[in-house]
Amino acid sequence: MITKNHKTRQLFDKAKQYIPYGVNSNFRYWGDDHTPVITHGKGSHIWDADDNRYIDYRLGFGPIILGHAHPVVTQKVCKAIQHGTTFAFTTPWEIELAERFTRMTGMNKVRLSNTGTEATMHALRIARAYTGRERFIKFEGQYHGNYDYVMYSTPGVDAEKLGPRTMPRRVKGTEGMPNAIRNYMISLPYNDFDMVEAAVQCYGDEVAAIMVEPIMGNVAGVMPKPGWLQHLRRLCDGYGIVLIFDEVKTGFRIARGGAQEYFGVKADLAAYAKAMGNGFPVSAIAGKEAIMAVVEPGKVAHGGTYCGNIVAASAAAATLEILETQPIIKNIFATGQELMQGMDEILSRAGVPHVVTGVPSMFSLLVGRDEIPTDYRTYCANDFELSTELLGGLIARGIMVDDDPREPWFLCAAHNAQDIAETLNAFEDTVKTLGVHAKKQLALAA
Ligand SMILES: Cc1ncc(COP(=O)(O)O)c(C=O)c1O
Repeated sequence: MITKNHKTRQLFDKAKQYIPYGVNSNFRYWGDDHTPVITHGKGSHIWDADDNRYIDYRLGFGPIILGHAHPVVTQKVCKAIQHGTTFAFTTPWEIELAERFTRMTGMNKVRLSNTGTEATMHALRIARAYTGRERFIKFEGQYHGNYDYVMYSTPGVDAEKLGPRTMPRRVKGTEGMPNAIRNYMISLPYNDFDMVEAAVQCYGDEVAAIMVEPIMGNVAGVMPKPGWLQHLRRLCDGYGIVLIFDEVKTGFRIARGGAQEYFGVKADLAAYAKAMGNGFPVSAIAGKEAIMAVVEPGKVAHGGTYCGNIVAASAAAATLEILETQPIIKNIFATGQELMQGMDEILSRAGVPHVVTGVPSMFSLLVGRDEIPTDYRTYCANDFELSTELLGGLIARGIMVDDDPREPWFLCAAHNAQDIAETLNAFEDTVKTLGVHAKKQLALAA
């Protein structure tokens, strides 16, 4: 873990005087002794307040796809904002972006907003307006943002509290929500073909949407079973339900056309954010013509002072231009594959049971067991002490991963062969010095 040096300690203490826990998002708090204060980033690297350099695989929870402070994106934004930032009118940057966005995603229409939370929230409202129904299906361990409708059975809730698999409970992911709101949501285990079919048979004509992260981007990159997304597609078609893909993490990261291109399944609506702006705050709700048509002034509300502002729209236009015209994602996959394979070999040599999940631009490593998790419940059966010890050892060696093993490793275009070699050295070193838990695992494996 990060051992705080003088300046980081001083800054963090000051942050705590004014900001609860010294952070502007709960997910960033790693404890008083270990929460970093970062001053700058360039390419694949970030630096803390004491000038310690880290190879960054956290990438701000995934948005950075080209590298930190990418010069082309930065220049386009700087040039654009010479003209102003927010007019509350349509600008040429939004039009440029929408044209490229729809071509890359294959979606007919797109509306911009600022965060992933807003994008999935609006997608849900559009689906409800389109169908005239109120309920929706969500899967355990999936995260769709920080608003009440979706904050049940989120990653982080105690899996023991989810109840029997065949009668899942909706467990609050936060205090402060009205109890009644849970009745709108049907919560199911991910990848369970029979459960979702039974739920749709039972409640089909009340269900507006099935909202799904195509890959469990907030639970170690757990993958859809073959046929799972196609199964959801068929059920939605059969029961007039809107299929919403939450592509906030997968969009523009696992393929130019996101999970829909990668898995060959078309959603009716999708929410995008993160990689589309390379770190600038921008998001999008996109979908089929007929469904997006309900977003009509005076009827279905979508809006916001900053939706499509020039900073966001120009940053996203620049990012998507690079992603569309250069083999960025293909190259990231090659680099990520090398890293995944290297770590797999090191753990196999050390006899530590493990699984690598996800795809090379967004993958996770589970240590302590060698069973592939298929949902939140099976994921939670892992040995997290060993994972946490491994991640802490890596961070102490200058490899910036999240301290929470649920968060995937993210790769960007700026990670190069030298980064991978340095990371694998640090990884081998960490695995060698893993403590009591690893020894227990080694003994089990022997
Ligand atoms: C899959 C998914 N959906 C939605 C969100 C919410 O996005 P934001 O944090 O931009 O509101 C996140 C955030 O990590 C996410 O991973």
